[in-house]
Amino acid sequence: MAQKKVIGLLVGRENTFPGPFLEMVNQKGAADGITAELAVLGGTEELDAPYHSVLVDRISHEVPYYRAHLKSAVLMGTTVINDPFWWEADEKFFECTLARKLGVAVPKTVVLPNKQYIPEIDHRSSLRNLQFPLDWDHIVSYTGLPAVLKPNTGGGWKDVFIVQSMEELITAYDQTGLKTMILQEFIDWDDYVRCICVGRENILPIRYNPRAPFEQRYQTSQPVEGRLRDQAIKDARTLVDALGYDMDTVEFAVKDGVLYAIDFLNPAPDFDNFSIQEDNFRWVLEKMSDLVLSYARGEASPPWRNEHRWWNYVAKPPAPNPVQA
Ligand SMILES: Nc1ncnc2c1ncn2[C@@H]1O[C@H](COP(=O)(O)OP(=O)(O)OP(=O)(O)O)[C@@H](O)[C@H]1O
Ligand SMILES: [Mg+2]
Repeated sequence: MAQKKVIGLLVGRENTFPGPFLEMVNQKGAADGITAELAVLGGTEELDAPYHSVLVDRISHEVPYYRAHLKSAVLMGTTVINDPFWWEADEKFFECTLARKLGVAVPKTVVLPNKQYIPEIDHRSSLRNLQFPLDWDHIVSYTGLPAVLKPNTGGGWKDVFIVQSMEELITAYDQTGLKTMILQEFIDWDDYVRCICVGRENILPIRYNPRAPFEQRYQTSQPVEGRLRDQAIKDARTLVDALGYDMDTVEFAVKDGVLYAIDFLNPAPDFDNFSIQEDNFRWVLEKMSDLVLSYARGEASPPWRNEHRWWNYVAKPPAPNPVQA
């Protein structure tokens, strides 16, 4: 009899994914003695023997104790989806630089110093390395206007401003407080695609309308086909492979045939069946269950072993910019 292996799931308030996912893993894994359950954590010791062979993390960005547990669990031999070290380090601006290196089109982007700091920090003593005031004309001459001012990390469309003029930009920036923001060329898109990415190779492009209400954004009645589909799959795969995300969504705004990657820092992507729709939900369940089982059986190789991870591109020059090619 094979040794019992447990796959754990950490979740937030989502309700439609956890039950069917655990059920499918339990069904498919039964013959190998692999079971799946909601993880229960309540204080972790440094050398706790790893109870879970795989942990799927959908919520550690909101619960710091989970993140601390997951990092230690990695060191103790658990495979964690997604890598907690990398998720914590990742930022949208870094990803834009990476996309340039990899030859994936991204809007022109500038990362900005914070508007504010904690009270103990003042300009004269602690911020001597900062150019002040900022040269907004120079910054905007790169991104153009309109532009998008949005947080360097985060999600849920919080603090995303589309600004039409310098005045609107300064007004928006003045509201950003302690957040680090990026300013990005606005892509006036004529089409939009969101790819659900599982296991760094399974890519599902879905037409997406960010202008629709939240639960109607996935437009399943208009499948993504032809060259658009091929390019979305190729670019999304390039990005998740280099980032090492086993769960992610990669979004593209399409303008004049160019796919601009807009947001690909979504390591706990929306898997709810009412937003991604039933067929896509089935696809996610199949791919996610196969992935965790292949890790539990020792068949899949974790992302940190991947030769396409971003650090292998440090010395390489940026690939040609697809916008000009
Ligand atoms: N450069 C851009 N050009 C055009 N539209 C943009 C751009 N950046 C962001 N947007 C719009 O703003 C929305 C939110 O931006 P973004 O996805 O970066 O933020 P988020 O908070 O991570 O969102 P989510 O929760 O959907 O992941 C995008 O779906 C897109 O519609
Ligand atoms: Mg996002």
